[in-house]
Amino acid sequence: MKKLDTICVQGGYKPKSGEPRVVPIVQSTTYYYEKAGEMADLFDLKSEGYFYTRLANPTVDAFEKKLTELDGGVLGIATASGMSATLLAILNIAGAGDNIVASRAIYGGSYNLFSVTLPKYGIQCRFFDPDDSQEDIEKLVDDKTRAIFAETIANPTIVVLDFEKLSNIAKKHKVLFMVDNTLVTPVLCRPLDFGANIVIYSSSKYLDGHAVALGGCIVDGGNFDFTATNRYEEFLKPDESYHGLVYASLGKTAFGVKCRVQMMRDLGAIMSPENAFLTNLGMETLALRMERHSENARKVAEYLSKHPKVEWILHPSLEENKYYDLANKYMPKGQGGMMSFGVKGGSEKASKFMEALKMIAIVTHVADSRSCVLHPASTTHRQLSSADLEAIGIKDNLIRLSVGIENADDIIEDIEQALAQI
Ligand SMILES: Cc1ncc(COP(=O)(O)O)c(C=O)c1O
Repeated sequence: MKKLDTICVQGGYKPKSGEPRVVPIVQSTTYYYEKAGEMADLFDLKSEGYFYTRLANPTVDAFEKKLTELDGGVLGIATASGMSATLLAILNIAGAGDNIVASRAIYGGSYNLFSVTLPKYGIQCRFFDPDDSQEDIEKLVDDKTRAIFAETIANPTIVVLDFEKLSNIAKKHKVLFMVDNTLVTPVLCRPLDFGANIVIYSSSKYLDGHAVALGGCIVDGGNFDFTATNRYEEFLKPDESYHGLVYASLGKTAFGVKCRVQMMRDLGAIMSPENAFLTNLGMETLALRMERHSENARKVAEYLSKHPKVEWILHPSLEENKYYDLANKYMPKGQGGMMSFGVKGGSEKASKFMEALKMIAIVTHVADSRSCVLHPASTTHRQLSSADLEAIGIKDNLIRLSVGIENADDIIEDIEQALAQI
């Protein structure tokens, strides 16, 4: 296998003689075939190719293949956004009457999807505290559980996932273990190496890295045996809507193929070719960027941890952080640029500090090359009640800082002058 930094640059696309060296944007919804039979073979999955961009497109395919190779998976399905990746992954295995067991420490949009929207369609979510014991989390799993869901590093609470604890439960109960790896990327941690079965991304973050293309991806690890359990009935019986295909009979690609031919066909949340092109381009520097994000974050976290106006700071590179050992175990090369901290004086001082920043901008986004800050309680998480905020560990003075790849001294200087003003 090629090294990860090489895959970032060259993975997913191999031109033939005379073809463009750079993945081209194939801006076409449709594909031409001379014979009807060729098209029929594509529909029957007897041959590989493209027939309609809602199902597959060469530019999107190159992105999916690169990310799948980075993660060590078998099949990737690119989506219009990170949210649609999570939604499709869940709908691929759960329906009315089923449940998922999820960490409370997840991105606010995913929390809302699980706690408000999915229950409207009959899929319940049982939340656990990431620090709960294996035994306590296991009590939430029953015969209707279809997935265990968590984030590698949670946005914005910076909780590091204990892969071993959750994969033990998933393996014991033969239930899929899904991990949102957005804030770490496969360059720093490959969830499939630690027991995950499905990896989910918002590619709008570090994968793109430049805040230009919305997108997401589901990577099928190909390491779950759907024939070893009766939990996923839909995989074991013929899908009459797709020529009677029995997905489990496909072996390693069962989850991914079902997701594409059934979910993508019916829900259509595919990534656009242009966004795939931009994301692919961004990913060429992913390994370099993640190294720099992590290094800068380590320096900024160290600085903040010693500042008298800072009440608390969460970044797993700090020895005092309660997830320091887990982070060293699962992402020893670095932990990315995301951190949270609270300034003394509560919400009011937090806003004042953010407004005093000159280079670091207040934006909703995180995890791109430019440093930015956000006050989740009044923005991304404002739909959540105070009880929900409390439950997912978001304090009113929490400032989410996404450390970019500028010079670390300049980032610290900006923070320093803003802290001096409060
Ligand atoms: C960890 C995580 N997962 C999923 C999402 C949703 O992704 P998108 O905004 O691309 O829909 C986000 C967005 O911030 C996120 O941070």
